[in-house]
Amino acid sequence: IVIRDDAAAVHALAADIVERCVRAGDHPGGPVLGLATGSTPLGVYRELGRRHREEGLSFARARAFLLDEYVGLPTAHPQSYRSVIRDEFAALVDIDPTAIDGPDGEAEDVPAESARYDRAIAEAGGIDVQLLGIGTDGHIGFNEPGSSLVSRTRVKTLTEQTRRDNARFFDSAEDVPHHVMTQGLGTIGEARHLVLLALGDGKADAVAAAVEGPVSAFCPASVIQLHPRVTVVIDEAAAAGL
Ligand code: GLP
Repeated sequence: IVIRDDAAAVHALAADIVERCVRAGDHPGGPVLGLATGSTPLGVYRELGRRHREEGLSFARARAFLLDEYVGLPTAHPQSYRSVIRDEFAALVDIDPTAIDGPDGEAEDVPAESARYDRAIAEAGGIDVQLLGIGTDGHIGFNEPGSSLVSRTRVKTLTEQTRRDNARFFDSAEDVPHHVMTQGLGTIGEARHLVLLALGDGKADAVAAAVEGPVSAFCPASVIQLHPRVTVVIDEAAAAGL
């Protein structure tokens, strides 16, 4: 657990971890990144973009997998997570856009698409570094409270709290989709290194429950306690409950 003074320092440390992975060069098919959305990781992507422009950090060999996606939102919608990662990460670095995969929120057969996605991650050799945010209700990805700790990629229904939290990205609260596809907690746990980021006092309770509470489906993020390699990077405000 690393507590930093401000958001910039949190973002810089997460960028250091991603950079180390990308430069390591010990991944036969290239480094495999797990990318999260929400507002918290955006500063990490901006910092990686800066390092690409100014320090020659290259993502040309990298592949990436998204954590989750809205179901029923057209992929072209600016708030689809595909669009967010394209605009907020891929546009800033030299990653091959065709090397980025995510659950297809427009798939007609959601269970088949979910199974395809888990297979794609496994065939890529698994995820080296998985970035994670945390919801105020303790979700990671879109694994809402009650999610099985060994779940695989699947459809989930958002809680009203999460729909309210995410309404700021949409024109109105009613526009927030009800359904999502998300890597399961079991899927996420297979990544070799988890990097969970949180900023602000609104996350303090969720962070405390995830890190110091019982491992329980009531706080899905608590599953990180079972993982051998997790770095939790938070600011002072998000650490207030520890
Ligand atoms: C969404 C995403 C999560 C993210 C969470 C927190 O629900 N599916 O991956 O962690 O939002 O978002 P923010 O970082 O904006 O607080």
